[in-house]
Amino acid sequence: MGAPLSTRHFLDLWTLSGDDLRALLDEAARRKAARLGLPRGAADEDSPLSGHVLAMIFQKNSTRTRVSFDIGMRQLGGSTVVMSASDMQLGRGETIADTARVLSRMVDAVMIRANRHEDVEDFAAYADVPVINGLTDLSHPCQILADLMTIEARLGDVRGKTLAWVGDGNNVLASFVHAAPKLGFALRIATPPDYRPRGQEIAAAQKAGGDITLVAKPRDAVEGADVVVTDTWVSMGDPDKDARMAAFPPYAVTEDLMARAHKDALFLHCLPAHRGEEVSDAVIDGPQSAVWDEAENRIHAQKAVLLWCLGKL
Ligand code: CP
Ligand code: NVA
Repeated sequence: MGAPLSTRHFLDLWTLSGDDLRALLDEAARRKAARLGLPRGAADEDSPLSGHVLAMIFQKNSTRTRVSFDIGMRQLGGSTVVMSASDMQLGRGETIADTARVLSRMVDAVMIRANRHEDVEDFAAYADVPVINGLTDLSHPCQILADLMTIEARLGDVRGKTLAWVGDGNNVLASFVHAAPKLGFALRIATPPDYRPRGQEIAAAQKAGGDITLVAKPRDAVEGADVVVTDTWVSMGDPDKDARMAAFPPYAVTEDLMARAHKDALFLHCLPAHRGEEVSDAVIDGPQSAVWDEAENRIHAQKAVLLWCLGKL
């Protein structure tokens, strides 16, 4: 038996309404402000997830996602169980469906970082508790919620702002594409010709009213932009490292490129960064960089996701 219709999974920003995304961003900012000065492991005053347990399954490496979900659950009054997929029976052939059925009897929600997006969808189809996408080959919705929160804290409402993506048309970009029509920001995307984002997602977002443009040259994406974003040229699981390292150098975010953006433009990167490749030290360590806020905001954004998934928001 699959999940009850009311189970709220967080698999992609595309599946949430603009109102839901707005509520998540507002809740994240509200809770962040309300706990200023508290030790990081201290619970929020209302401990809304007291007694709740989140299981986390990792098929790929992680620093930020692992720690931010763990600390986020503590701050909400709950706890976590963290597992590497290779250490589980999943790694010896137990099916995703059976794993989902078992964990649904033991924990209140499951976060999965998976190699294949369809495995997370499969897990959600058999789980009776909410399932959260902690990154797949196709998307990274938790990251983009934290990015949007970071933009709004520095620049105000993201509606009407222009974001420039420079680099690989990858999983992180896909979640920006999903959010653009929901929250009303423009997205200018510059990638090498062989590394464009998936056409069907761009078309669907444009059809939904998203102001999304693909350009060839980084400077055409960045000109006058409010935010410049990039990511690694070689994502976890990408097989073609040599071809990528040959194709991407013209897409590096340097001080010269940043100078073409709005003078108060932000620089974002989900991290981990490869300094001297997709971004120079001068940019990531410079005054326009908001990457450390962005990393911290993973905690606050995901607390809102957990509350939403568990029907508390
Ligand atoms: N940005 C991000 O998801 O980082 P980790 O891979 O360290 O979780
Ligand atoms: N695009 C990167 C993001 C890492 C957080 C990857 O998938 O490896």
